[in-house]
Amino acid sequence: MLGAKGLAGIDIGSKNIKAVQLKEVRGGYQLERFGYLPIPPELIVDGSILDSLRVVDVLKELVKKARLKVKDVVISVSGHSSVIVKRISLPEMSEEELSESIKFEAEQYVPFDIEDVNLDFQILGPREEPGQMDVLLVAVKKDKINEYVSVVREAGLNPVIVDADVFALENMYEINYEIEPGKNVALVNIGASAINMNILKGGVSAFTRDSSIGGNLHIEAFQKELNIPYESAERLVRGETVEGVSQKAAAPIITVASDDIIAEIMRSFDYFKGTTTHEDIHEIIISGGCALLEGFPSQLSTKTGIDVKVAEPFRNIQIPKDFDRESIMEIAPMAAVAVGLAIRRVGDR
Ligand SMILES: Nc1ncnc2c1ncn2[C@@H]1O[C@H](COP(=O)(O)OP(=O)(O)OP(=O)(O)O)[C@@H](O)[C@H]1O
Ligand SMILES: [Mg+2]
Repeated sequence: MLGAKGLAGIDIGSKNIKAVQLKEVRGGYQLERFGYLPIPPELIVDGSILDSLRVVDVLKELVKKARLKVKDVVISVSGHSSVIVKRISLPEMSEEELSESIKFEAEQYVPFDIEDVNLDFQILGPREEPGQMDVLLVAVKKDKINEYVSVVREAGLNPVIVDADVFALENMYEINYEIEPGKNVALVNIGASAINMNILKGGVSAFTRDSSIGGNLHIEAFQKELNIPYESAERLVRGETVEGVSQKAAAPIITVASDDIIAEIMRSFDYFKGTTTHEDIHEIIISGGCALLEGFPSQLSTKTGIDVKVAEPFRNIQIPKDFDRESIMEIAPMAAVAVGLAIRRVGDR
C-alpha cells in the first residue's frame, strides 16, 4: 500500500495495557515499538471502563514510554456480553448483497437489539448443501466500542480499527506458526479477568468464546485464604516472596484457583466438541499473563491430556538490537493480542 503508515496495536487489558508496532520488512516483520504498563485495579472491571480519566492517563504514559510514533491505532474489545461471533449458514450471495442484508440476516443470531450493535461479516466459503454458504458473523455492542474508542481518543490517539481479542490471537498465530491441515489448535489467552479462546481447524477458526474469569482468581484466593493485601497477593502470583508466607502455603492456593480456570477452559472444549464434529483438540497454545504462571502450562496439560505450548508471539518477528530482548521474551506471551492487533491494516479484510 503506497504511503501506508504502520498502525500500532494497543491491547487495553484490565491489568496491563500493551502496545506493539511492527514494520513490514522483506519476508516478515520487525519490531518497531513495544511497551506495556500496569493499570491500577478497579479501573476496568468485567471489561467495562469504570474510571476513564485514569485509563487515559495510563495510555498517555504508555505512548511516551513506548515512544509510539504513529497516532493511528488498532484496539480490541472482548467479552461474551458485548461481542458475539457466530458461524452461520446463508443462501449464497455476493459480498455486496450480504452487506445490504446483513442486518436482517443477523437479527435472529444476535441476542441484543440489532440497532445497538456494529455488524461485520466474512464469507468463509460454500457449504456442502448446494446454494448455501458459511459466513462468520461478528456483532459488537456499540456502547462497548464507544467506551474504548473514547478513552483512546482522549489519549490523543486515533483508533482506526476495532478488532476482537479472539481474532487478534488468530492473526498472531498465522504469522508465527505453520498451519497444519487436519490439526485442531486451541488458542487460549488467559488474562486477569477474561479467557479468550479461538479453536482453529486446519488454521481456520471453528469456535470462539470469551469467558469472564482469569488470573484475578489467584489474587482473590490469596487475599481470602491468607488475609494479605492485594499488592502482596500479586507478588505471590508472580512467584516473588512475601514476608510471612511460605512457598509451601502458597502453592496449593495457586493450584486450586488454576483448577477453576482449567475447568472453565474444559467446559468450552466440551462445548466445541458437542456442537461441532466431535473432533479432538490436538494442541493448546496459551497466552496472556497466566501463561507465565509457574506450573500452569503443565497443570493444564495434565488435566486436559492435551499438549500445551506457551505462545511465542515474536517467533517470526525480528527484534532489533536496541531492544532489551531478554525482558521482552520474559513477558512475551502477554503480548499475544497486541501483536495480533499490530498486524492489522486498514481495509485488510
Ligand atoms: N510473571 C507472572 N507470573 C505469573 N502470573 C503473571 C505474571 N505476570 C502476570 N501474571 C498474571 O497475568 C495477569 C495479567 O495478564 P494480562 O496482562 O494478559 O491481563 P489483561 O490483558 O490485562 O487482562 P484481561 O484481558 O483479562 O482484562 C495478572 O493478573 C496475573 O494473574
Ligand atoms: Mg487481555
